[in-house]
Amino acid sequence: MAGLLVSSAAAHVLLLISATTLLGGVLVGSEPTQDKQALLAFLSQTPHASRLQWNASSSACNWVGVECDPTRSYVYSLRLPGVGLVGPIPPATLGRLSQLRILSLRSNRLTGELPSDLSNLTLLRNLYLQGNALSGGFPTSLTQLPRLGRLDLSSNNFTGPIPFSVNNLTHLTGLFIQNNQFSGALPSINPPGLDAFNVSNNRLNGSIPASLAKFPASSFAGNLQLCGGPLPSCSPFFPSPAPSPSISPNPPIPVQKTKKSKKLATGLIIAIAVGAALIGFLLLMFLIVCLRRRRGRQASKTPKPAGAAAAGAAGAAAAGGSFEAGTSSSKEDITGGSVEAERNRLVFFEGGGYSFDLEDLLRASAEVLGKGSVGTSYKAVLEEGTTVVVKRLKDVGVGKREFEGQMGVLGKVKHDNVVPLRAFYFSKDEKLLVFDYYPAGSLSALLHGTRSSGRTPLDWDNRLRIAITAGRGLAYLHESSKVVHGNIKSSNVLLGPDQSGRVSDFGLNPLFGTATPPNRMAGYRAPEVLETRKVTFKSDVYSFGVLLLELLTGKSPNQASLGDEGIDLPRWVQSVVREEWTAEVFDVELMRYHNIEEEMVQLLQIAMSCVATVPDQRPNMAEVVRMMEDMNRGETTDDGLRQSSDDPSKGSDGQTPTTESRTPPIGVTP
Ligand SMILES: *[C@@H]1O[C@H](CO)[C@@H](O)[C@H](O)[C@H]1NC(C)=O
Ligand SMILES: *[C@@H]1O[C@H](CO)[C@@H](O)[C@H](O)[C@H]1NC(C)=O
Ligand SMILES: *[C@@H]1O[C@H](CO)[C@@H](O)[C@H](O)[C@H]1NC(C)=O
Ligand SMILES: *[C@@H]1O[C@H](CO)[C@@H](O)[C@H](O)[C@H]1NC(C)=O
Ligand SMILES: *[C@@H]1O[C@H](CO)[C@@H](O)[C@H](O)[C@H]1NC(C)=O
Ligand SMILES: *[C@@H]1O[C@H](CO)[C@@H](O)[C@H](O)[C@H]1NC(C)=O
Repeated sequence: MAGLLVSSAAAHVLLLISATTLLGGVLVGSEPTQDKQALLAFLSQTPHASRLQWNASSSACNWVGVECDPTRSYVYSLRLPGVGLVGPIPPATLGRLSQLRILSLRSNRLTGELPSDLSNLTLLRNLYLQGNALSGGFPTSLTQLPRLGRLDLSSNNFTGPIPFSVNNLTHLTGLFIQNNQFSGALPSINPPGLDAFNVSNNRLNGSIPASLAKFPASSFAGNLQLCGGPLPSCSPFFPSPAPSPSISPNPPIPVQKTKKSKKLATGLIIAIAVGAALIGFLLLMFLIVCLRRRRGRQASKTPKPAGAAAAGAAGAAAAGGSFEAGTSSSKEDITGGSVEAERNRLVFFEGGGYSFDLEDLLRASAEVLGKGSVGTSYKAVLEEGTTVVVKRLKDVGVGKREFEGQMGVLGKVKHDNVVPLRAFYFSKDEKLLVFDYYPAGSLSALLHGTRSSGRTPLDWDNRLRIAITAGRGLAYLHESSKVVHGNIKSSNVLLGPDQSGRVSDFGLNPLFGTATPPNRMAGYRAPEVLETRKVTFKSDVYSFGVLLLELLTGKSPNQASLGDEGIDLPRWVQSVVREEWTAEVFDVELMRYHNIEEEMVQLLQIAMSCVATVPDQRPNMAEVVRMMEDMNRGETTDDGLRQSSDDPSKGSDGQTPTTESRTPPIGVTP
């Protein structure tokens, strides 16, 4: 006891005595017995350089790298940097140091995944594991450490996505995961105190979330394809085709002495890393935008005849930097005489409530939603947080006048089941359409899943609801707007907040003249369109019929896996039904719902009438909607949408019922 007291500060004497008595009167030197066992277990199972020796007969608190709390009752920190530790961290060793605050094992040769019991270190504040060869996914055990402030996993061999659950670490102040192989998109990491962050040299792609945009470009450098934030904008509008010969490769920096010069300079630095071609485009486009804006401003200063006054005011608003959407730029501006000064501006339609301009759009971080036959769609997140979808049309075959004429028609379409066109932009080089963003995605993604995410089964009531609502939208286009949709397919049916269908991407065919891309609508195209190359109301009905078959069969119309090769979905359904295997056509996923066979067969009949080969034999859309609404009359609510009655998610946790409990499908002979 005497020796012990000598080495301790007087203030701790009382505590020490009580601690040692509690531990059963261990007198060999106060020490954390359990932590010592854990440490010894760790060292004995982990090969290490011979200079690291822990003498089991002395107190663990005196060991190299071990620091105890003042009462020497637990291990407070363990620091073993560069001591030649080799191999995986054994489970049930370090995870037992339940009071540990600081753990540093950096610069060793540790491999493998972190043991999951590190999640028991609930008081851990700092974890330094950089400079090893640790592998596996982002250790989720670490996201359960509520006190964690500094986390350094850099220079290891971690792979896979960075989980959103990093946000669980509300005390995080520094996250260092550079020099690994993390992939996928960056989640929006947003602990309030985060002041140091580095994900450089991984394999991340996609846009940098706004919450991380405050960190410097070097925090993000060396990834697969990160963009936005401090890096060049993910702007979809410069997708780096080889620069056209008319573009001067010299970046016009000296010319720019405005506030944009700073942006251009940083852009240039990154350009060296990212690729000169892309930035050449960017700079040129900025220059063009600036020059045109300046021209617009000058035009607005010179006196004008009365007819152009409104346009002048709009130009001045743009020059001032804030553009009031939907007020000065309604339809009159498109069709009226003031088109000239409206050049190269985003033209908004009424009712969108958006206020941003082209530059905001160019600065937005954007991610590709899909590449279609007429262009690419992007999800663009503007700096103030608004999210829109921008469709960038390619190979537009009409001039400005016809384009604007068609936009005037499409901008007027307003229906709950039609995705409204909010704005457009027309210049010689760019044709852009702006739509609302629907976070719930498309029917196609819902039915078939996307590559990135799996899918949850879509039950019958929801399928029927989507069919009816999308049908209403299409019927409205036909009857009230006299617009041929021209590209009905499941990826163009978006899901509203109430799981209703909304048709998008309508009425664009006239923009492409006769040059309608041949592979447009593959799988949904009516037979006559192949010859006439003209879409009609009746060809829309055909496409809608294919969509119904898709809902019923769960099969994608443009997938090749329909049994025999080269057979389309309507033909496949016809062949199966002809053989009296009606039940075989239905999506197996639907087999778990009871009492829906009758409705399925009814919808199948409606679908088959839509895909009649002869256009005149197809019903029109209004009739199709009426037939669908009549199908389940009696059970419908006021808006024609049936209450969900047999939702398996309510009772069975998504388990598939056994074969016995399933109502036998009709048409099946045992
Ligand atoms: C371990 O410590 C004990 C007592 O402090 C000492 O007698 C012994 O020599 C030490 N062993 C080694 C290998 O240093
Ligand atoms: C971690 O904590 C859990 C629950 O408290 C316990 O069952 C488990 O044994 C602990 N693991 C280790 C290695 O201490
Ligand atoms: C988030 O933290 C809580 C406790 O702080 C934990 O129970 C939960 O499992 C953590 N979630 C993830 C995904 O790590
Ligand atoms: C990292 O992991 C990959 C594959 O998982 C492996 O090929 C590579 O050798 C590892 N690198 C290091 C430094 O361990
Ligand atoms: C990121 O990369 C993955 C796989 O390489 C790819 O599937 C995904 O579409 C990419 N995301 C973006 C936004 O580029
Ligand atoms: C991020 O890490 C990389 C690679 O270690 C380094 O070059 C860069 O300076 C770091 N950036 C910041 C902001 O710490």
